[in-house]
Amino acid sequence: MKLKFENLTKEFGDFTAVDHLSLTMTNGVYGLLGVNGAGKTTLMRMLCTLLKPTSGTITCNGRDIFEMDGDYRKLLGYLPQEFGFYPEFTVQEYLLYIAALKGIRPVVARRRVKELIAKVGLTKAAGKKMKKLSGGMKRRAGIAQAMLN
Ligand SMILES: Nc1ncnc2c1ncn2[C@@H]1O[C@H](COP(=O)(O)OP(=O)(O)O)[C@@H](O)[C@H]1O
Ligand SMILES: [Mg+2]
Repeated sequence: MKLKFENLTKEFGDFTAVDHLSLTMTNGVYGLLGVNGAGKTTLMRMLCTLLKPTSGTITCNGRDIFEMDGDYRKLLGYLPQEFGFYPEFTVQEYLLYIAALKGIRPVVARRRVKELIAKVGLTKAAGKKMKKLSGGMKRRAGIAQAMLN
């Protein structure tokens, strides 16, 4: 997987929040550090296709992510700081629900959910209601949903 930012710029009126960013990311873990107001959230919002750049491009394996549209979002997983869920859903129900929203076929979803619950160490809590989870366990459920696709 290759994610490439080229001359990526975002302006809000006459204010430039992201200024000609060029960067290539391949498989691995990346951290985005910067002072308050540096443009991190603006960049993440463009990366999630929620915000259109003023100029420049973001490509995924050579294809513009805004042109890929749904094909790109099929690959995308995202865990925001605060995430919404139905508190009465169990961990398993929550993940199956997100999988359905992502358009993952039920047979595939059931297998994937089981694997991910084990991967994030929630096997014992799979039948627990989301509202009963500790902060850290909620976080793990959030990580699992981000990895569904
Ligand atoms: N929708 C917006 N309209 C106008 N200015 C914005 C908007 N979103 C962010 N900004 C401005 O862009 C700059 C970068 O913001 P942001 O990306 O949230 O920074 P960070 O996440 O790095 O703290 C800030 O000065 C912020 O006020
Ligand atoms: Mg921010």
